[in-house]
Amino acid sequence: ERLGALLRAMPKAELHIHVEGSLEPELIFALAERNGVALPYPSVEALRAAYAFSNLQSFLDIYYAGASVLRTEQDFFDMAWAYLQRAAADGVVRAEIFFDPQTHTARGVPMGVVIEGLHRACVQAQSQLGVSAALILCFLRHLSEEDALQTLEAALPWRDRFIGVGLDSSELGHPPEKFARVFARAAELGLHRVAHAGEEGPPAYIWGALDALHVERIDHGVQAAQDAALLARLARDRVPLTVCPLSNVRLRVFPDLAQHNLRALLDAGLCVTIHSDDPAYFGGYLLDNYRLTFDALGLDAGHARLLAANSIDASFAAPTDKARWR
Ligand code: HPA
Ligand code: ZN
Repeated sequence: ERLGALLRAMPKAELHIHVEGSLEPELIFALAERNGVALPYPSVEALRAAYAFSNLQSFLDIYYAGASVLRTEQDFFDMAWAYLQRAAADGVVRAEIFFDPQTHTARGVPMGVVIEGLHRACVQAQSQLGVSAALILCFLRHLSEEDALQTLEAALPWRDRFIGVGLDSSELGHPPEKFARVFARAAELGLHRVAHAGEEGPPAYIWGALDALHVERIDHGVQAAQDAALLARLARDRVPLTVCPLSNVRLRVFPDLAQHNLRALLDAGLCVTIHSDDPAYFGGYLLDNYRLTFDALGLDAGHARLLAANSIDASFAAPTDKARWR
């Protein structure tokens, strides 16, 4: 109906998408065959049936297993290109795509293979889809800061191929302060900075991302609702929260979409945006996240325009592009 059509048509920015989380089971099997990699699942259906998660870690275990089929530059291109075509169909005009280089370099895949394959898909997205696409290099927080520092240095020959750094993987037990030096180094290099915080972790991790890492956006951040002073800080500084509703339900952060706090965060005056996180694993791409959340929370056309405009504002796109999309 009309709201559904509006949600698709509005120019939107996708700011919280892990490219490895866009790897559909069909492509996992195709790449496994192409590369001669053995998978511990007999079929696409058996793999998909394993996508029943009880928390973040239970998802991450299967997500890293899926990523193990990626070996060549063409594999990284194919994965990112499949995602970008789906994003374009959902009305995405700008995509800032997370990638996890340590997941690949630890298996012996060279940094250049990862970055060049993803970059080629971003370039083709602009020319063939009219989608502006950029890369954000994420550090795995379950690994050491020393490993993150070495990863950033190893990526510097491709410094112009990514716009920022992020922080993802297992949150609990790995507070932002652990990565203060590598984020300071990223700032020196002129890179944008974002971090996952307050997905499963406490409000203190969101404070830490702001004050120790000096991030420009918080990924997830839904646990901020527990801390009134933090809500006031996020509203005052207009720090965007990149919220991923279907992810939050699949990883049991909320029991169902109807109990998601997205509307409460908007009502508290925060710059909230909607994204897909790991769409191949969580049951939907960007437009599915919008439509299902709007249905469950009774949001209207005014919310639609606000959330889409927030996503453009919160992006790291050039001001001239932002003006065109608003
Ligand atoms: N949280 C943390 N790390 C991740 C996620 C997530 O939702 N998705 C992929 N890596
Ligand atoms: Zn995420």
